[in-house]
Amino acid sequence: MDERILDEHEHGDEASLELSLRPVKLSQYIGQHAIKENLNVFIKAAKMREEALDHVILHGPPGLGKTTLANIIAAEMDVNIKTTSGPAIERAGDLAAILSSLEPGDVLFIDEIHRIPRVVEEVLYSAMEDFFIDIVIGSGDEVRSIRIDLPPFTLVGATTRFGSLSAPLRDRFGVQLRLEYYDLESLKHIIERTADIFEVTLPLDSMNELARRSRGTPRIANRLLRRVRDFSMVKEEDEITLETTNHALKVLEVDPEGLEPVDHKIMRTIIETYGGGPVGLETVAVSIGEEVVTLNDVYEPYLIQRGFLERTPRGRKATAKSFEYFKDSKTN
Ligand SMILES: Nc1ncnc2c1ncn2[C@@H]1O[C@H](COP(=O)(O)OP(=O)(O)OP(=O)(O)O)[C@@H](O)[C@H]1O
Ligand SMILES: [Mg+2]
Repeated sequence: MDERILDEHEHGDEASLELSLRPVKLSQYIGQHAIKENLNVFIKAAKMREEALDHVILHGPPGLGKTTLANIIAAEMDVNIKTTSGPAIERAGDLAAILSSLEPGDVLFIDEIHRIPRVVEEVLYSAMEDFFIDIVIGSGDEVRSIRIDLPPFTLVGATTRFGSLSAPLRDRFGVQLRLEYYDLESLKHIIERTADIFEVTLPLDSMNELARRSRGTPRIANRLLRRVRDFSMVKEEDEITLETTNHALKVLEVDPEGLEPVDHKIMRTIIETYGGGPVGLETVAVSIGEEVVTLNDVYEPYLIQRGFLERTPRGRKATAKSFEYFKDSKTN
């Protein structure tokens, strides 16, 4: 089996920092109240029945805490977690190897589960539903299929593209949780927690500003805080002042709504080149030299949530708010 199959797919310093910022218990997981309440009940009930937790699918934009939640689920269930990702499982045999290494009740976390190859997905069906897999071995006249029984386990899948999952796969997840963008209060709480871990002081006005510009996303909040901390440190401040916060965000090209240069390019293209739309996302992607997938998964959801962009049957449209906002706004 390929070494990477059970590897964390993130690497480098930023990734290890991210790991150190990850809450480990459900009670430390900030925001997403509905999800937490539901999970709490399902986890308690599964433990009372001494059963594996039902399969869970976590979906929503990047950086909202899907990987974090998968690890929390395993910790709360007191079981091991094995982590892999859709593209890392190339053949049915890879999946068989992972599945047969599981102990009863364990969590198998498959990140980017929408990218799992078709042949692997089909093996997953019986594994999820009846805890067995049929593996075809040999070739030519020697082909035969062997059945491998599996311990009851919990599959936790994460995806930024719930819509790309096939219906049979989607339906096999008993628990389907959609992560939402975080509200300002939750973001402030997350920033406060991270500032504590970093041992830096952040006055309320700086915290508000960071929260406002974090696109409802904990990963972005933490990343911006790290950069702002750098500026403050170099200035030898005792606390991260609002002035430094604003200065750093300006240098980082994060505007007052948390929009970045790519967001500006998207909206300006739609407004200036296509008269506000409707225009196809593919056309916009080509115009600005970005991947459609990136626009779709990363940029568009937030622009829609903030009321700048509208999805219509004939394409993307700029809203009245958008015309007003981008009228003469530069990146900052
Ligand atoms: N509810 C939360 N409370 C505190 N911190 C959080 C929360 N959710 C996420 N974070 C922080 O945000 C960072 C990103 O979270 P995570 O990696 O789980 O996101 P993700 O949804 O898996 O992203 P991707 O789709 O890119 O894989 C983590 O380092 C974690 O510290
Ligand atoms: Mg993740």
